[in-house]
Formats: sequence, C-alpha cells, structure tokens
Amino acid sequence: MSATGQSLYPPWMELREERPGDASAVRHVHRRAFGDHGEAVADLVDSLRDGMRSGGGFALVAEDAGQIVGHVMFTRSLLDAPRRLVDVQVLSPLGVLPECQRQGIGSALVRAGLATAHEGTSPLVFLEGDPGYYSRFGFTPGAELGFRKPSLRISDAAFQVIRLPAYEPWMTGTLVYSEPFWRHDTVGFRDPDA
Ligand SMILES: CC(C)(COP(=O)(O)OP(=O)(O)OC[C@H]1O[C@@H](n2cnc3c(N)ncnc32)[C@H](O)[C@@H]1OP(=O)(O)O)[C@@H](O)C(=O)NCCC(=O)NCCS
Repeated sequence: MSATGQSLYPPWMELREERPGDASAVRHVHRRAFGDHGEAVADLVDSLRDGMRSGGGFALVAEDAGQIVGHVMFTRSLLDAPRRLVDVQVLSPLGVLPECQRQGIGSALVRAGLATAHEGTSPLVFLEGDPGYYSRFGFTPGAELGFRKPSLRISDAAFQVIRLPAYEPWMTGTLVYSEPFWRHDTVGFRDPDA
C-alpha cells in the first residue's frame, strides 16, 4: 500500500512467488517480451532457476485471471570488492507480455522484488536497463557509487544499482555476473559490426 493508503498495484493483478509449474508460462512471457532475444532470455531464466536452488534469489510472477503476464528474477552474483567477494543480487530478467504492458505490471514486480530484497541480507541490487525506467524505483548509475560494470559492452547509463540496508561503504568493486549470464551470452548487447 502507498502512504495514502491506495494500492500501488493494478487491483486485478496477483503478485506471487514463482512455483515449479510456472516454468513454461514464464518462458512464454519472455519469448514474447524480448522478441528476437526471447529464446535466449527464456533459456537464461531456466538456468538461473537451477542456480537459485543452491545460491539463493527469488522469482515473482504477476497473474491476471490465472494467466501469468509478467515475471522478474533476483539472483545471486558477486561483487569483487577490495576486502572480499560479496554476495549481491542482479535484477534480471524482467518481462511483461506485450499486450499487458503500460498497466503498471513491470513496476509492481520491481517494487515487490525490492521490498523482498530489503528484508534479506544482500547489500546491493544491480541491473542493466534503461535509466528512464529504473530511476523511478531508486536505481542510480553504478559508476557514480564506485562500481564497475561486468562488461565494457554495457553503457555507463545502463549499469545501475540500488543500495539496501546491509550495504557498507567499503563495498565497491566490479560486478561479476553469475555463470548463466555468460553461458547464454545475455550480457549487454553484441555489435555484429564491431
Ligand atoms: C520494461 C517492461 C518490463 C515494463 O513493463 P510495464 O508493465 O510495461 O511497465 P509499467 O506499466 O510498470 O511502466 C510503464 C512505464 O514505463 C515506461 N517504459 C517501459 N519500458 C521502458 C523502457 N525500456 N525505457 C523507458 N521507459 C520504459 C513506459 O513508457 C511507461 O511510462 P509512463 O508510466 O511514464 O507512461 C516491459 O516493457 C517489457 O517487458 N519490455 C520488454 C522486455 C524488457 O525490455 N525488459 C527490461 C529489460 S532491462
């Protein structure tokens, strides 16, 4: 609920944790949402889910009348800080069925995920995405806070972070994506003309 007592989410939408039986509906969401990259993103989701069982993290779905219309994952990666490796979270992927976009579903998934992350032990959530979208949730450019992106192919503007209560000032350094992001080549954008 917001400070005014009004729900932040569309009233018809149910937000819940992803369940084992959701996998194919979730694949469908990302195939549609990400177009040409949809198959790779759907494969990434399946691999991240495997890693989530041992490495922590969570996934949320948005449902409309029993149909999964949106999905987000928060999974474990590492920050290579001067003092030690730090477990951090990466928000990726986030997808909403094209016909359901611009109704507040993506925002609701991000806000619910951040609320869950606030309750956990992770100090930071990173992502790559459009700051025009993610700044509304409190994400800011990572470089300005002493973080280095995991690939030079990610633009400085796209590499964003949000600090959580467990954050401490010595936690600077390079974000090291978990292995599935590399296996599926879903880091940044490839330039075929480079
Ligand atoms: C990005 C995405 C998840 C947003 O979901 P959504 O349910 O449409 O988002 P919301 O309804 O909560 O928010 C819509 C607002 O975000 C804006 N928005 C959506 N995608 C945006 C983008 N890529 N960049 C900037 N703004 C964006 C819309 O213009 C709209 O702005 P408004 O509220 O000022 O009109 C959805 O568009 C999507 O699945 N896109 C394809 C996959 C993708 O790009 N995922 C993110 C990868 S980082």
